[in-house]
Amino acid sequence: MKLAIGNDHVAVEMKMEIKAYLEAKGIEVLDVGTNSTERFNYPISGYKVAKLVADGQVDGGVLICGTGVGISLAANKVKGIRACVCSEPYSAKLSKQHNNSNIVAFGARVIGVETAKMIVDEWLNAEYEGGRHQVRIDMISEIENTGKLTAAED
Ligand code: RB5
Repeated sequence: MKLAIGNDHVAVEMKMEIKAYLEAKGIEVLDVGTNSTERFNYPISGYKVAKLVADGQVDGGVLICGTGVGISLAANKVKGIRACVCSEPYSAKLSKQHNNSNIVAFGARVIGVETAKMIVDEWLNAEYEGGRHQVRIDMISEIENTGKLTAAED
């Protein structure tokens, strides 16, 4: 398995710990984030990880900024990306099972590193369930591809 990881300046330490945690599991980690605490604009890392995921160069992505919000918003602007911000493991698991998330995001100012590890574990171990969930994912894709949603038209 190969994952991409990205972060901004407030999440350098957590990125390093999560990267090492993943590598210790035998996962190859492509780090496109910053290693400096100098101010760094999170959309750069969000975009880089999202592109790698969308282009199929990695199997998934992990994004970390202060809250996980900004960096996931940037990633979600890349076509085909479903980046989910999670502050606890249950949402991380369900984001894969129901929403087929291909990037998990969290905030270094919101959660501690042990919770981050649990989030990553649940997300990695979960599998997309398809079935009824695919109808909803297809709707999200329709909005993304056409700017409209047929099912919402009167
Ligand atoms: C940086 O100050 C902060 O805005 C960023 O890390 C993130 O929380 C944005 O969503």
